Amino acid sequence: MTNPNQKSESAKYWEEHLKSWEASAYHREGQQNANWWDRLSTVFRGDAMYVRMNTALELLTPHIRDLTVLDVGCASGRFAFQMIEAGAQKVYGTDISNDALALAKKHGSELGVQDKVEFSAMDVAQSNSPLPQVDLVTALGVIEYFNADDMSAFLGNLRAKYFLLDFPDHGRKKEFPTWILRQVYIRVNRLPGVYLYSLDEFAKLAAPFGFTNLRVIKRNNFYYVTNLPA
Ligand SMILES: C[S@@+](CC[C@H](N)C(=O)[O-])C[C@H]1O[C@@H](n2cnc3c(N)ncnc32)[C@H](O)[C@@H]1O
Repeated sequence: MTNPNQKSESAKYWEEHLKSWEASAYHREGQQNANWWDRLSTVFRGDAMYVRMNTALELLTPHIRDLTVLDVGCASGRFAFQMIEAGAQKVYGTDISNDALALAKKHGSELGVQDKVEFSAMDVAQSNSPLPQVDLVTALGVIEYFNADDMSAFLGNLRAKYFLLDFPDHGRKKEFPTWILRQVYIRVNRLPGVYLYSLDEFAKLAAPFGFTNLRVIKRNNFYYVTNLPA
């Protein structure tokens, strides 16, 4: 952990809320750890989080063989294990939640891939968080909680040539009624903030750290930003 006394807003929120969120987002595995509000959200969210992850994997499949990858906000490791299965050489996972990381380590051993994954706790929205050098960084459902300062700190921490990130595209505001439901969820759960960006705004934040040629891909109702070759 970078500086436990100065956690970012997103880190403080997710440390408390992740267990319930994961249980409802991945409801097919059982919702016993979800609070009533997250259970209700499942009714509206349905399988969307499975779709988000599977779509990201689909986009990465042509590139991922033999790459080293860092999955930021890896939670209990689902996406990391999928990327190993898809051919990644090694996947590092980082998250703010020690409980989720303990589960990720346990799952890694159960799946027999403990040599190919490495999980560690980090607040990636704090400057100088020591992230590993990798070929590719992924993050699903993470950067939407970063204001411009957090985003710059996050991008400045990356030690990779490529990224594929679930993108909080400003176009989502037009998606009715999902957008309205999202606003209700944010307020009821007292989420610190959700920040939407245009590609231009994001590109301006990313350019000082050497990330250029960015594009947004919209697929299956999710947006991703990447600098991977088209
Ligand atoms: C909405 S969940 C998504 C989890 C996972 N990527 C998925 O798609 O299932 C957001 C994740 O990002 C992590 N996270 C949020 N802010 C973070 C921060 N500043 N540093 C590290 N992890 C963070 C949370 O703990 C949580 O696991």
